[in-house]
Amino acid sequence: MASSEVSRHLLFQSHMATKGTCTSSQLSDDEQKVKRENVRSLSMCGHVGFESLPDQLVNRSIQQGFCFNILCVGETGIGKSTLIDTLFNTNFEDCESSHFYPHVRLKAQTYELQESNVRLKLTVVNTVGFGDQINKEESYQPIVDYIDAQFEAYLQEELKIKRSLFNYHDSRIHVCLYFISPTGHSLKTLDLLTMKSLDSKVNIIPVIAKADAISKTELQKFKIKLMSELVSNGVQIYQFPTDDETIAKINASMNGHLPFAVVGSMEEVKVGNKMVKARQYPWGVVQVENESHCDFVKLREMLICTNMEDLREQTHTRHYELYRRCKLEEMGFKDMGPENKPVSLQETYEAKRHEIYGERQRKEEEMKQMFVQRVKEKEAILKEAERELQAKFEHLKRVHHEERLKLEEKRKLLEEEIIAFSRKKAACEIYQNQYFAASGSTLKKDKDRKNSNYM
Ligand code: GTP
Ligand code: MG
Repeated sequence: MASSEVSRHLLFQSHMATKGTCTSSQLSDDEQKVKRENVRSLSMCGHVGFESLPDQLVNRSIQQGFCFNILCVGETGIGKSTLIDTLFNTNFEDCESSHFYPHVRLKAQTYELQESNVRLKLTVVNTVGFGDQINKEESYQPIVDYIDAQFEAYLQEELKIKRSLFNYHDSRIHVCLYFISPTGHSLKTLDLLTMKSLDSKVNIIPVIAKADAISKTELQKFKIKLMSELVSNGVQIYQFPTDDETIAKINASMNGHLPFAVVGSMEEVKVGNKMVKARQYPWGVVQVENESHCDFVKLREMLICTNMEDLREQTHTRHYELYRRCKLEEMGFKDMGPENKPVSLQETYEAKRHEIYGERQRKEEEMKQMFVQRVKEKEAILKEAERELQAKFEHLKRVHHEERLKLEEKRKLLEEEIIAFSRKKAACEIYQNQYFAASGSTLKKDKDRKNSNYM
């Protein structure tokens, strides 16, 4: 059994123990329930030993140890690390952040602490760069995503066939300490938006940081103003539970002190003959653990000593349950079917399988139709192209044929011209020869005549 389950069981036991004093109407309710469930109530003749069950559970959970995860949301340098150091009275050695990060991110660090024989695995998650960007729209989304991621990791573990929740490191955030600047004015829009987006996911305890920077009268007014702003904006902060009679009174009175005005310091200062945690100023000393100086003790008392288990339980039964329900509904699981009949997991699974199968078939059919349609369209385009090509080919063939005929015609004409030319040429040659022959004899006669004249 996981330590959280054990402690829940223990809480239930102590709850039942305190109910030893419960009213007769409650008892009769229980009796009625027993009757309805058809369970007989018997008295035993002697001791058998199962009364040690709570002790067994305590021993086992002490052996396993506990885990607690704190998320500190607040501007850079508002005093987150100092307050955590002061709360757990140790130096966690957290380094300072710069004001120049482009985005908000979360830094988680896990520590092992021990007080007497109780081991506590404490994870402190700090915002880094919160409120430093000019555009603050995306400031709270990383915080929401971080919280959801831890729920998702737990859900995935729960849904595994081979679960190991027994030694699973539960990283779900049990409490968010929301640090408010001691301005004395009102809540910043960023504070309201951030708390509003976180309130259904985590137990928010708002604290006024560096409360030594605000006067006592201003602080009272500031507290009232903050609470009225939270109420008017519908922000749900964590209320210390009042259902357990042993702590109902103190918790109810502490609910009236919210938001706690805190001062943090690990510095030891001598006051009287005692060393106390304090902040020393030229004009005096602010004692961290002095209830007339600040609400640090109230916060430590409520967070660690009285309500740590309730914070763990609320995280599991309220916030995680909501996340789980929404996630499973998103996945198609439901408890009630049509006509408000309960639906088993098997039935939901079968229905979902059918739905997915039907959807797949519908998609396949759609794709087939689309494929056929596309093939038809492509075929029509190709046929059109083929027709165009054929027409082009026929046209070219015709042109080619006509060209050939024209060329044939021209060739014939040319041949005829060549023949005519050859004939003319032959006639010319005959004529030329005859002419040369005739002119040759005339020349000889003239030469002879000339020669005879000279002699
Ligand atoms: P980052 O992690 O860098 O964002 O800062 P942080 O929010 O963890 O603040 P841190 O605890 O480092 O404190 C920043 C400064 O504020 C230090 O100089 C602290 O001494 C001082 N400081 C812390 N708590 C208080 C307080 O209650 N009152 C006053 N006046 N100063 C404080
Ligand atoms: Mg810090």
